[in-house]
Amino acid sequence: MTDKRGDLLDKLKLVEERRALFEAGTASPGSTVIERVLGPCEVVIGGRPTLMFGSNNYLGLTFDPTVMAAARDAIVEYGTGTTGSRTANGTLALHEALERDMADWFGKQHALIFSTGYQANLSVIGGLCGPDDVILIDSDSHASIYDATRQTTSQVVAFRHNSPESLRKKLERLPAGQRNRLVVVEGLYSIRGDVASLRELVEVARAYGAYVLVDEAHSLGTFGPTGLGCAEAQGVLDQVDFVVGTFSKSLAGVGGVCVSDHKEVRSLHFLARAYVFTASGSPANVASVRAAVRVIRKHPELRDTLWVNIAQLREGLHKMGYVIGSTESPIVPIFTGDEARTIALWQKLLIEGLYVNLIVPPGCSRDDCLLRASCSAAHTPQQIAKALDILERARIDVGVTA
Ligand SMILES: Cc1ncc(COP(=O)(O)O)c(C=O)c1O
Repeated sequence: MTDKRGDLLDKLKLVEERRALFEAGTASPGSTVIERVLGPCEVVIGGRPTLMFGSNNYLGLTFDPTVMAAARDAIVEYGTGTTGSRTANGTLALHEALERDMADWFGKQHALIFSTGYQANLSVIGGLCGPDDVILIDSDSHASIYDATRQTTSQVVAFRHNSPESLRKKLERLPAGQRNRLVVVEGLYSIRGDVASLRELVEVARAYGAYVLVDEAHSLGTFGPTGLGCAEAQGVLDQVDFVVGTFSKSLAGVGGVCVSDHKEVRSLHFLARAYVFTASGSPANVASVRAAVRVIRKHPELRDTLWVNIAQLREGLHKMGYVIGSTESPIVPIFTGDEARTIALWQKLLIEGLYVNLIVPPGCSRDDCLLRASCSAAHTPQQIAKALDILERARIDVGVTA
């Protein structure tokens, strides 16, 4: 009997065809398996010890002894999972304690935590916005922000990446006073590592009566005098209505948070679908994040080390002729252009023992590919020097020119 059920699977066949371009046994994009983790910056891939320069472990806390001990203790005290939603049986004293810690760290009145950073955006944007609202987002926004807007019935307007002028024009065109406006931007953009012009963006947003949400996923822990992110670094934290953060980067765990002085944010506890209809963060996770916050607050010098490492990596790449992004941040994009050459370079690096992130279509256009390297406070000067050495040899082998 012939199958008359149509072409539901055809889009997946395209993925299979693309994967078949890579010979069996060679590293292929999206399929890297880490066999062992030797430390915050070293793993085993394909049986080889590999330097990790592609993680978001910016402060290197995944192996911090106090963070690990907090996770172990929480398992003993609370078990492995919460087996329920925050709104049902999944709120432990631990969850509320982390919310108090977060509010205290940010100097904001309220905090709500989520099972992932992705769900934080889904919950906050989805819970806040309805048919009477307009959401204005940066065109380079993370998928979680785009997905969050898609589940609302709000009007969605994208403005040019990091352009206060474009935001102003979009706001100007909206009919006056009819709808609530929410401007959503990121502090530090996750692929190209550029920092948002928050001072100007916030000024424009507020001039047009808009609320402001800043997603500090990559900047929490890495920017600002006390590690609160780019809004703190640029002196506008008090003018931001909602700060979203994730635990999966500097905080070395999994989860997300929203802090705000608007008390209504706590009502998302009953309202936000991506919060209500999913299990809460596991005890080990929540406890480890509490410990990570304590470490970050107590050890600002971790950030100093991170910035020294960033300077070493950027200087080395620049000297050997790689084209890198102009913004100084823990994310160092290496612009390589052509897709085939970028994949060849990435594979060569991996074989030589260096992991960086590969950004190829659909993450970018075919001739705008890049490698995304990222720095950690836990990288040693020797590890950075070794990574640079691998990058230099691979560049010559693959024929990457400036
Ligand atoms: C800007 C931004 N927001 C949200 C997220 C989602 O965070 P998580 O991976 O913790 O769900 C990410 C993840 O990379 C991100 O870059």
